[in-house]
Amino acid sequence: MSWITSYPATTFMPIQATEIAKEVDLLYAFLIISSLISFVILIGGMTWFLIKFKRTSPDQKSAYITHNNFAEFLWSFIPLVIMMVIFYWGMVIFEKLRVPPADIAAEIHVTAAQWAWTYKYANGKEYYSSAEDPLVVPAGKATKLILTSKDVIHSFYVPSFRTKQDAVPGRFTQLWFEPKQPGDYIVFCTEYCGTKHSGMMIKIKAVPSEEYSTWYHSEKKGADTPADKGKLAFGKYNCAGCHSVDGSRIVGPTMKGLFGSNRKFADGSTTTADENYLRESILVATAKVVETYPPAMPLFQGQISDDDVANLIEYIKTIK
Ligand code: CUA
Repeated sequence: MSWITSYPATTFMPIQATEIAKEVDLLYAFLIISSLISFVILIGGMTWFLIKFKRTSPDQKSAYITHNNFAEFLWSFIPLVIMMVIFYWGMVIFEKLRVPPADIAAEIHVTAAQWAWTYKYANGKEYYSSAEDPLVVPAGKATKLILTSKDVIHSFYVPSFRTKQDAVPGRFTQLWFEPKQPGDYIVFCTEYCGTKHSGMMIKIKAVPSEEYSTWYHSEKKGADTPADKGKLAFGKYNCAGCHSVDGSRIVGPTMKGLFGSNRKFADGSTTTADENYLRESILVATAKVVETYPPAMPLFQGQISDDDVANLIEYIKTIK
């Protein structure tokens, strides 16, 4: 794969292609430097003590010291403060890495399977990963990936973005990033997933946002959009028999405005209707029963494909 050699390798670390990458590196540098300083103080001090206080005659004895409250307080409290600073600093960066911003320019379904990735765009563009078909995203804007796997656990890792996320069978996970500059960025699968684990290497191609828009609206690779296919599945599984799309109440809750809304359940708990909630409710509806509704929906687990579930979710997202 020739494009790998074109990857800039001028620095010790991969290039910092996102704002967050800089913050991650700063924290990492702090950890390395503070560890080095601790090492020098501890090992250096120990060595110096060994030499300076070496016993010079057989009857030489050290003073009898039981403890020192002040010294013990200091060597507990100072490390505690340093650790809390590291914890808080890490937490702030972690939250930025995990929580996508409100304005997402591209939302792409990325599905892992031994040993390749498939990407599906909202308008039906669909690609099976290879070096020739990179994951095209807009530069300077936020992209959100919705990840899942068809078989074992894989992990989507972009070193230049300093971010990674597992792709887990049976659930959705998400990852977001905003590459500052157009360019090609390597993606590794970073969870050992079998013989060709190392072959699950793809590239993200970040292009200027006008170029992305032109590309996005150019010839489609897939026939229908995931939402179109979801609408067909909605008919095929006779969902409309119990769920309206116009807000009216039939047997089950309406689909109108469902995605992203706050759900209240019969047992008093609540949740936000995200991809995982919808997935669970399609497969095992009785897991979370919406208050004032009967637990009437049959079990679809094993009756419906993962693709149909993902498409249904995309269709439900469009019913506003
Ligand atoms: Cu997929 Cu490792």
